[in-house]
Amino acid sequence: MMTELKLTPKEIALLEGAEGPGVQRAMEIVVTLGRIYGAPDLVPVKHVQIAGVSYKNLGDAGVAFLNEWAEEGARVRVPTTLNPAGMEMDRWEEMGFDPTFAQPQIQAIMAFVKMGVRPTLSCTPYLFPDYTPARGEHLAWAESSAVAWANSVVGAYTNREGGPSALASAIVGRTARYGYHLPENRRATHIVEIRCPVRTIADFGALSYMVGKRVGAGVPWFADLADWLPPLPDDLTLGGEAGDRLKTLGAGLAAYGAVALYHIAGYTPEARDQGETLIRPDAQRIVVDNLDEGYAIMDADPDVTEIDLVTIGCPHASLSELRYIAQRLQGKKLATRLWVTTARITRERAAQKGWVQVIEEAGGEVVADTCAVVAPVRGLGIRTMATNAGKMACYAPMHSGVKMRYGDIDRCLDAAITGRWE
Ligand code: F3S
Repeated sequence: MMTELKLTPKEIALLEGAEGPGVQRAMEIVVTLGRIYGAPDLVPVKHVQIAGVSYKNLGDAGVAFLNEWAEEGARVRVPTTLNPAGMEMDRWEEMGFDPTFAQPQIQAIMAFVKMGVRPTLSCTPYLFPDYTPARGEHLAWAESSAVAWANSVVGAYTNREGGPSALASAIVGRTARYGYHLPENRRATHIVEIRCPVRTIADFGALSYMVGKRVGAGVPWFADLADWLPPLPDDLTLGGEAGDRLKTLGAGLAAYGAVALYHIAGYTPEARDQGETLIRPDAQRIVVDNLDEGYAIMDADPDVTEIDLVTIGCPHASLSELRYIAQRLQGKKLATRLWVTTARITRERAAQKGWVQVIEEAGGEVVADTCAVVAPVRGLGIRTMATNAGKMACYAPMHSGVKMRYGDIDRCLDAAITGRWE
């Protein structure tokens, strides 16, 4: 029997328009989702992350919708941050973006800012030092890679929101309590056993394809992946070797499947506390003997040797990735374009260490606010790309129409130095 959605008197008042049409519209969205998914009630959220921010995704209709909502007086009531836009906001001209793309993109960001959203323009809100999600917190995050991180690595609770539903949650400060907000839905549906080495970020990307494709929207339990992970650092905002691998794993699981939560035995918080009681009795077993199938799919165009753009930082690069790239490029000169995409806030932290300057001296660009999937890179003359990120290898050919080479970070940086994929 379907549970009836219970609303508090305050929530009923918002739904009836007590705080104006903008808030009423937001409440209608949250309540409708709650009724569709059989939620018992609404739950307050601590933080919201909005995705679908690029003009490439929004189009004119999306920009008009945002402006209308802002004009109706809608304002967010919890801290809310934004996913990458389609360009770096204050360098778009210099980087070659067309004004017909830039102008509506700026209008969209202004509408978000008018509603009180922080224009962080990054898919890695969990790397920001001023807010990190905590275990057991309810969130409304729309960026699928960040959702996987929050649920799995931190043990926070969030569904994979859509762009409008995340914004609606920010405006009313609540989301409907269903899906991953309920402990019973956080149990593992698949047990994954790995019988091959998983060493690099690119290996974790290849693994994400092989598991994501089989699991779909399920919850994988990695029985032995902890063998391939150093301990997580106390400060998760630094990334670190383990953080960088898990960032890629979650992004790929979400892109190739629709995974919003995974567990690693003895490693991720819920798996550590609850052990195998977290596995459903009907869980299916998956054995991964090698990563060949993942590499074959991601390294999609093996005939391509000339690379127009090497891109690293999907999800946005962490401080540890920026440090590694700077060390690797010290004193080198690049033959082709390199984008290390990251959050503005991470770029500032890396610049304080001198890492951004080293990458730029080599001829690379540390690009903030955007990435090679949400930016119109074909308009910049990019036809071939190389990356070490599973999600980028999945989405860039689809969204940006480029040919793709895939391999570990050293291979990508070598391609940037020589201009060729050897
Ligand atoms: Fe982030 Fe773009 Fe990848 S939004 S997760 S860098 S596709």
